[in-house]
Amino acid sequence: MPIIAANFKTNHTRSSTAKYVSLVNNYLKTNSTSDVYIFPTATSLDYFETVANLHIGAQNAYATQNGSFTGEIGTEQLDEFYIKTILIGHSERRHILGETQEMIAQKYQYFKALGYRIIYCVGEPLEIKESGLDATLQYMQTQFEGIDLSYENLVVAYEPVWAIGTGVTATNDDIVNVHQALKKQCSKPLLYGGSVKLGNVESICQLDGVDGVLIGTASWVAEDFIKIIENTKEL
Ligand code: 13P
Repeated sequence: MPIIAANFKTNHTRSSTAKYVSLVNNYLKTNSTSDVYIFPTATSLDYFETVANLHIGAQNAYATQNGSFTGEIGTEQLDEFYIKTILIGHSERRHILGETQEMIAQKYQYFKALGYRIIYCVGEPLEIKESGLDATLQYMQTQFEGIDLSYENLVVAYEPVWAIGTGVTATNDDIVNVHQALKKQCSKPLLYGGSVKLGNVESICQLDGVDGVLIGTASWVAEDFIKIIENTKEL
């Protein structure tokens, strides 16, 4: 059974997030699936009573317990809601918010030391992809600098930047080539992300080296996300 994760990015409010989590949780109460993750906005984090395989995670946090880091949240704010899962290295934080590999590695080390489940994202921009598979794999090595790939609570997500939010999904060959190469390097669960939707999730989840999916746009309507879980739970 594949791992299925929803990244809300900058979508949903506290009240719509609570409704969404409740719908997904009700579905999971009567259906057996692998791990399901929901990453709401920081303002929508809360303590949700959920089944054991539904995990609420933070899209981001600063590597601190608390302190003077205007606009950031630390582990004090996550602990309030027993949140122990975090996304690190997402391409939007790398390319839009300007997080460097050094900052990302520092964050990784901090949350690793605290035992968080880390979904660590890597992926190449279009110009690298156009230079071929070797260039793509080499580029991703730079995104593993300072990252301990043997960390027991790690899930890796391959999200090609050019496929995120664009409607352009990587081809099955693209996904398999990269996933097979990453699997040689790291034995952790490996998710694919980038324009995954109801129409392609089943075939993507069946590809060699794919252990699940990290979904943005197509996950934002609870009923659609539930259908995605439903359509992949027998795989
Ligand atoms: P989309 O599914 O909207 O392409 O986003 C993927 C993603 O960035 C998930 O983290």
